[in-house]
Amino acid sequence: MSGFEIVFSGRPIPVRPGQTIGAALHAAGIRSWRTTRINGRPRGLFCGIGVCFDCLLTVNGEPNVRACLTVARPGDEVTTS
Ligand code: FES
Repeated sequence: MSGFEIVFSGRPIPVRPGQTIGAALHAAGIRSWRTTRINGRPRGLFCGIGVCFDCLLTVNGEPNVRACLTVARPGDEVTTS
């Protein structure tokens, strides 16, 4: 099965079938997409298994989605939370 794209903050991101949104962003060289409230430190994938909640994104308008657990679907619109 061939790949597809999702859109991250207006940027097309290639995805291989079965990849999570977090894996696709990482493969595209995107390592962080949010910051901490107090010190503005960058956050992205950390645990990779759904425990730390560092990877939260908004997907198709749904906030607080864990990128590391969410399998990308063609045409997903992803923005930072
Ligand atoms: S990277 Fe820790 S919950 Fe997603």
